[in-house]
Amino acid sequence: MRLEVEGLEVAYGPVRALHGVSLWVDPGEIVAVIGANGAGKSTLLRAISGLLRPRAGRIWFDGQEITGWPPERIVARGLVHIPERRQLFASMSVEDNLRLGAYLRLRRGERKGVEEDLERVYEIFPRLKERRRQLAGTLSGGEQQMLAIGRGLMARPRMLLLDEPSLGLAPLLVRELFRIIVALREQGLTLLLVEQNARQALRVADRAYVMETGRIVREGPAAALLKDPALQVAYLGGPAPCRIPEPPSAEVLSYARLTRAAAPGDATVGEHGNRGDDAGG
Ligand SMILES: Nc1ncnc2c1ncn2[C@@H]1O[C@H](COP(=O)(O)OP(=O)(O)O)[C@@H](O)[C@H]1O
Ligand SMILES: [Mg+2]
Repeated sequence: MRLEVEGLEVAYGPVRALHGVSLWVDPGEIVAVIGANGAGKSTLLRAISGLLRPRAGRIWFDGQEITGWPPERIVARGLVHIPERRQLFASMSVEDNLRLGAYLRLRRGERKGVEEDLERVYEIFPRLKERRRQLAGTLSGGEQQMLAIGRGLMARPRMLLLDEPSLGLAPLLVRELFRIIVALREQGLTLLLVEQNARQALRVADRAYVMETGRIVREGPAAALLKDPALQVAYLGGPAPCRIPEPPSAEVLSYARLTRAAAPGDATVGEHGNRGDDAGG
């Protein structure tokens, strides 16, 4: 089930988000799309899965042109999109969320197959089995991501479009997630993986594309991109790990202001503006 995208153009009203994007994914591959926030990665996946209608360009999946098809018809062909931010039903149980992933099949009366798939998803994610009756909204971020993937698997995909699955996960869970992604490929799935976590994505991918402002600006084998000096500076945090501290939150800033106001010796410092560490005003 090869996916091929050619010259895709997508706009949100007057805002053009994709400018002639072309790519392909061969059966059994993990292909990564990396790029900064706002580059157009999610837009690309939404256009492929039929949630957005492209202004121009064509999409083929498994030998058929699917451009302009409604999302349900694309899902039924086995191309399943797992969106950014998971979009689970918080007030429904884990198991009901999973069953929803198979709703097209339940509608066709494939009850037995769906029950088998539920067991298969629980094998991949034993934690979800333990929590099958728990409400999805009470799961941790990592568990919610596993549930989102599990729900996608319930549609019996042949290819998964994964949007930022590692977003907001602790490092240990990120590693587990990428292990699962590799395991899914070993079970015969093809994956198109969108990530801001470029280093991890390139480590598991066969090939990758780099997006900037709605265009593909680089492509090649993931191993080669991982070693590319220009990419290391722009997307991989430089050759040596480097950490930029987070700016203080509004709460910390207002707390700092309060404590300064309470300390008489410090109260005038801001007015003279002679201390570099005073950001208040
Ligand atoms: N619903 C929307 N309406 C208008 N503009 C949007 C919408 N979604 C995304 N955009 C714009 O399209 C561009 C690409 O966004 P997106 O595909 O979300 O990027 P990424 O997933 O790489 O962060 C950005 O400039 C973004 O502001
Ligand atoms: Mg996105």
